[in-house]
Amino acid sequence: MPDQPRVLCTRRMPPNVEARLARDYDATLNPEERVYSEDGLVTGSEGMDGILCAGGDPLNAGAVERLSGSVRIIATYSVGYEHVAVGAAKARGIVVTNTPDVLNDATADVAMLCLLGAARRGAEGDRMVRAGEWLGWHSTMMLGVHVTGKRLGILGMGRIGRAVARRARGFDMEIHYCNRSRLAPGLEDGAVWHDTPESLLAVSDFLSINAPSTPETRNFLDAERIACLPDGAVVVNTARGDLVDDDALIDALRSGKVAAAGLDVFAGEPNLDPRYRGLDNTFLLPHIGSASLETRDAMGYCCLDNLDAFFAGRPCPNAL
Ligand code: DGY
Repeated sequence: MPDQPRVLCTRRMPPNVEARLARDYDATLNPEERVYSEDGLVTGSEGMDGILCAGGDPLNAGAVERLSGSVRIIATYSVGYEHVAVGAAKARGIVVTNTPDVLNDATADVAMLCLLGAARRGAEGDRMVRAGEWLGWHSTMMLGVHVTGKRLGILGMGRIGRAVARRARGFDMEIHYCNRSRLAPGLEDGAVWHDTPESLLAVSDFLSINAPSTPETRNFLDAERIACLPDGAVVVNTARGDLVDDDALIDALRSGKVAAAGLDVFAGEPNLDPRYRGLDNTFLLPHIGSASLETRDAMGYCCLDNLDAFFAGRPCPNAL
């Protein structure tokens, strides 16, 4: 229809999302999953009213400043928005929205998968069975790290961090957290607040990273902070890869200072540091925290709700 707003969608989307996008917008879809470079985004934005992008799309300040003047909204199909220069967008009067809440449960599920997979050597066991190298049960085979009763330190007790805490309580873990500020008792739900990351790390038999990527959190888990962890700790990261100093974590995994790591996110995805692949004590996933059908639909609907509100002249529910 001629009067529909024009939207550039930079990724292939789940069918239900694409159907609604195509119904309500003059949408440029991306069925072949063409990867948009910075220049590609600038060129592709010509004549567009909005952009529906996703994590990793290079909407940095340089790109945002060069986007077509027709673009008035960027809706990112992600809760994390470090790939979008929000300040540069605002300076140009472009609204930026994200998808909070709808992926809390799916991501927290994957955090527990990483926690258990790392602690109980899930990937190693799977490889052994597939390779036909399992020679039978014995009492000292593939001993892992016990979970029940251990202390789980959560860095970033936002909505996803709290969903991890709820799950971990079901595994009888003792919850500790570090956040910019202490949560209200109802949200804390018995978790122990630490006012410094170092104090949190010192009690983290398990550490779950659930904080966003910001200039302050980048390289959070470096050698100095790893030294604060109890010996044999398990590290879980389902937030962003750049919160971890890969050299430091790999050294710690090799020395046994960190017993195991469950990682769903990596610096430089999908080109993770190849040394992780060679370590038996890593449980590695390809950034699938939010990858359930229901969640990926909900993320798309959330983007569309924001676009719908914007083009109807209403406030966007998730404007940043
Ligand atoms: C998010 O929403 O930020 C997830 O990491 C998926 O990109």
